[in-house]
Amino acid sequence: MKGIILAGGLGKRLEPLTRITNKHLLPIFDKPMIYYPLLTLIEAGIKDILLVTGGNNAGDFLRLLGNGSEFGLKHLNYTYQKGEGGIAEALRLAKHFAEDEKIIVILGDNILEKGIKKYVNNFKKQGKGAKVLIKKVHDPQRFGVVELNGDKIISIKEKPKKPKSNYIVTGIYMYDSQVFDIIETLKPSGRGELEITDVNNAYTKKSHLTYDILEGWWTDAGTFDSLLKANNLVAKKERQRTT
Ligand code: G1P
Repeated sequence: MKGIILAGGLGKRLEPLTRITNKHLLPIFDKPMIYYPLLTLIEAGIKDILLVTGGNNAGDFLRLLGNGSEFGLKHLNYTYQKGEGGIAEALRLAKHFAEDEKIIVILGDNILEKGIKKYVNNFKKQGKGAKVLIKKVHDPQRFGVVELNGDKIISIKEKPKKPKSNYIVTGIYMYDSQVFDIIETLKPSGRGELEITDVNNAYTKKSHLTYDILEGWWTDAGTFDSLLKANNLVAKKERQRTT
């Protein structure tokens, strides 16, 4: 399985922090944000990784991460997203890289307490389709919210005003090669982006979407509050680890 980290976008919700740098280069406790999704993939046994970035600071990722040898990788792949067309548009750029293999996609601002290896192994056994990792949160209206019926996802709604549950889709997605055909059928949403939620709903319609509930804490870091939360959670975890 190949891994893709999506680290583009303009990080507008973090202005002015993101005026002169990419969101994913901001610090989370003692490391740049991008380290965390990269380590999450590596710890899950993913060695073939593509970083999709964009904006004015794309070159800084090369200076920071180089060829990935510091992380035990033989090589690290990069590609560039022009503008801000959404998560699914960024993923489209990974088609040539995926070469019909299954892929795992992680958003560059998703920070996790624990590893994801067991979910990756579950997906390897799944055959065709896709898998999302979901999590119960207090503020579901900020995310893609899932409507569940037993072990089935009925639908996902992106940032609904009246969420149907407290379970949301985290920014960790696993797909078979159908994903690139699905992306070609998408239309831009109200915010002018190709939405990853529309990709996931296309799998739902075919009953090809499974889920696992992510253990341990999880947060994104794209707003001032969640950035602070991510810093505090990582700081606490690091202190527990070193004392
Ligand atoms: C994106 C997705 C959303 C998902 C979230 C997880 O939201 O669109 O469905 O729940 O990532 O981090 P965004 O961060 O673009 O608002």
